[in-house]
This record gives sequence, structure tokens and C-alpha cells, in this order.
Amino acid sequence: ALRDSCTPKAQKQYQRSWKNPQPQASYKVAVLGAAGGIGQPLALLIKMSPLVSNLRLYDIANVKGVAADLSHCNTPSQVLDFTGASELANCLKGVNVVVIPAGVPRKPGMTRDDLFNINANIVKTLVEAVADNCPDAFIHIISNPVNSTVPIAAEVLKQKGVYDPKKLFGVTTLDVVRANTFVAQKKNLKLIDVDVPVVGGHAGITILPLLSKTKPSVSFTDDEIHELTVRIQNAGTEVVEAKAGAGSATLSMAYAAARFVESSLRALDGDSDVYECCFIESDLTELPFFASRVKLGKKGVEAVISSDFQGLTEYEQKALEALKPELKSSIEKGIGFAQKQT
Ligand code: NAI
Repeated sequence: ALRDSCTPKAQKQYQRSWKNPQPQASYKVAVLGAAGGIGQPLALLIKMSPLVSNLRLYDIANVKGVAADLSHCNTPSQVLDFTGASELANCLKGVNVVVIPAGVPRKPGMTRDDLFNINANIVKTLVEAVADNCPDAFIHIISNPVNSTVPIAAEVLKQKGVYDPKKLFGVTTLDVVRANTFVAQKKNLKLIDVDVPVVGGHAGITILPLLSKTKPSVSFTDDEIHELTVRIQNAGTEVVEAKAGAGSATLSMAYAAARFVESSLRALDGDSDVYECCFIESDLTELPFFASRVKLGKKGVEAVISSDFQGLTEYEQKALEALKPELKSSIEKGIGFAQKQT
């Protein structure tokens, strides 16, 4: 069953669903940081989903215009805007999926970890409000450094007594989207068919594409594997440098995040065939959080697909061991931050 049910299918369904809006729109989605570089195109893509009845846009400024603009699109969802902390609770009440792209992006020369001090506080405050107002929602964390902000969110939810590890996700879909694109280009494959699981974390060497598990099955030379792995790991930096100070990936990120939202909504809607890679609490390795492919269901993560880790190549095995110390320290930094605050 797994062979037919990996992400290309999700991708095809995601693209088809725009053209053929059959499903019943009934889910409420909130975007926190909706007026930003990611937030705006992400809100547009979510507005196109046939599964969404209600789209709530929250930011500290400039969100009214974004909502007014989007509300004129003749797709089913109603768009509501919420500005500033005093309107955050109302934004979140009754929401099924909360997506968090709030925070500052990288500039040239910065690592994702350089964003820690600002974004850690933003994520903490927003997740506290999620815990108080929609504790059952799926929470999608986009704000970087994801390797630390997800552990922060987990600690906040624990402190509030509402942590459900199956419903807290670090969004790593962009790594998969990039891996699929680069592999298809390199191997002249039909893009829609390509699926590469990407595991580990979401920064530098912690991003590990499992090229040996590419579907359809392809063979790579050692040079190709190294070149593709490094390009996938540094793809975010490619965009940061090309934008030369004007931010990081926003459009491809919005595309990837919208796909993860659509997959979550299909899972909530009872589709039993939804698989995505994401960064979650995990016992797959000795680290408390780890990105891998998971099966999504109505209650969040239904199963971790551990079979991706069988028969890794020597290159992948080495890269897996090499990423663990950095990922471990980013996770501990997040947990330490959240625990220091109490
Ligand atoms: P941006 O600066 O264009 O937008 C961020 C938005 O967040 C702004 O509208 C700002 O007003 C808002 N914001 C700031 N503080 C807030 C708060 N307390 N509550 C609500 N909203 C708040 O940044 P961009 O490019 O949209 O990136 C956002 C985040 O996403 C960054 O941390 C970036 O590093 C991350 N990112 C993650 C990726 C991933 O693969 N997970 C890929 C690309 C970016």
C-alpha cells in the first residue's frame, strides 16, 4: 500500500483539488504572521482549498488589507482578520489547523540559528495562545530555527498541560519539495512522479535527503549524491543570497506549507492515505525530535515510517550520525530556553 501512497499522490491530489472542488469546505485554518513574505502567498493558497470554510489571518500589523484583498476571491472560505495580541484569542477559537510563519527571516551571512533570540520569544507567545484557545488543533511551525522552535512549542504545551506530540509539526515540506525538484531536473524525470524522503532536521547538515529511497527508483553516481545532498541542504541559502538582503524563501515556502496544510486537512477529513515528512517528537533515533515520513490521520501522526531507515547507504548512514550532535544541541537549546522562562 505504501508504494502507492507516498507524497507524489498527495501532490497530485493537491493540484487536482484546485480544479475540481468536490470536498465539503468545513475546516477552520489560522495563519499567524499572515502579513509576511510567507504569510501572504500562503494565505492565498489556503484560500484556494476546497476543504477550508474559514481562514483566520493574524499579524501584529498590516493584516486588514491582506484579508480584504483575499476576501474577493470567489472560493468557499470566509476570510477574517485579527490584529495584535488583544485579538489573538478570538482568532484561534475553534480552529482545526494553526500555521505559524511569524518571525524574522535570514539575511545573507546568517544561519537559521542566528534567528533564535527573536523567533523563540515569538513562537513561545503564540503557542501559549494556541494552548489556551485551540489545544486540539494541529500546529504547524514554520518559524526558524525549526530544530529549536518545535521543542520550544512542545515545552510550552507541556507547561500548559495540553501537549499532544501527534499534533505538533515542524514544517520541513520545503526540503522535500526542493529534493524532488532537483532530482527530477538532474535525472530528467517527470517531476510529479518523484518523491525523496528528507529526514533529520531543518538546517544545514541536519537536512538529510535519503536519495537511495527516491521513488521511482533511480541510480546516482557518488558525485551526484554528494552534489544533490549539498544543494538540498543549502537551497535556502541559495535563495537568501539571490534576494540579497530582502529575506529568505517565501513563495516556494508558501507552496510547501500549503501542501502540508492540505495534507493535514485531508487527514482530518478521513483520508487514510496521507503521508508527509515533518519534524516531530520521535523515538526513531536517540534524539527526542526527528524529521521523517509519517502517516497522518484524524488524530495527527498515526505512524512513523521507519522502513525508510532500512538499508541506508554508507553515505546516508555517515550523514545520519554526523547530523545528530548539531540537531541534539539545537533541540536542547530550545528546551533550555522554554524551561528558563518558567
Ligand atoms: P517576514 O518578515 O516577511 O514575515 C514575518 C511576519 O511575522 C511579519 O508580517 C511580522 O509582522 C510577523 N510577526 C512578527 N512578530 C509577530 C508576532 N509576535 N505575532 C504575529 N506575527 C508576527 O518573514 P518571512 O519571510 O515570512 O519568514 C517567516 C519565518 O519563516 C522566518 O522565521 C523564516 O526563517 C521562516 N522560514 C521557514 C522555512 C521553513 O522551511 N520552515 C522556510 C523559509 C522561511
